[in-house]
Parts: sequence; C-alpha cells; structure tokens
Amino acid sequence: MTGTEGFVPVCTVGDLEEDVPRRVELGGVPVAVVRTEGSVFAVDDTCSHANVSLSEGEVTDCRIECWLHGSSFDLRTGEPSGLPATRPIPVYPVKIEGDGPGAAVLVSVTQES
Ligand code: FES
Repeated sequence: MTGTEGFVPVCTVGDLEEDVPRRVELGGVPVAVVRTEGSVFAVDDTCSHANVSLSEGEVTDCRIECWLHGSSFDLRTGEPSGLPATRPIPVYPVKIEGDGPGAAVLVSVTQES
C-alpha cells in the first residue's frame, strides 16, 4: 500500500511509552496504538469477544492481552492466542513521519493492513 490517503496523525513516537497502549479514536473507531519491539502498531481497541477496551490490558511479546478473560491478540496479525476470543481484531496500517521522539505516528482506519 502506498500514499498517505486516510492516514491521520494520532500522536508522536515520544508520546508512546514502550509496551503501554494508548487509546485514540479515529472517525469514531477506537484504536489502540502500541510501541513495542522497535515498531509501532495500531489495532482495533475492542476485544473480539466482548466490548472491552484492549488498551487497558498489558503488552508482552508483541501481543496485547484482554484483561477480562485473558485472550491476547497478535499486534501484527490481530489473531487471538486462544479462547474465549475466536475472531481476530482489525489491524490498521501505521506510518511514521520524521525522526526521533518527535516523529509523527499516522494511522489509517479506512484500510486494514
Ligand atoms: S472480553 Fe476479551 S477475552 Fe473476553
């Protein structure tokens, strides 16, 4: 995918604490933005099992855990680790513009990556 169509700046890289999800809303879509393992990921903030905010959970090994029942979702693919969630969550493309902590993080929710 190329171009910046649909990409919206949500924060800077410096705003993102390592492994601490940040919740943003883009066009009414709640998104969890996570910086981990040298990359920034954006996934739908709502667990696919029930209406729970994933950004309130913990991030380990490039996965975000749902605090309610313990399913965790791969930040790269959205796939759940196991029950009770069975469906993946949407993963959204991220662009970084600039360098260092002041670099802008842009996310597009109009296309899943
Ligand atoms: S609400 Fe997330 S695993 Fe049940």
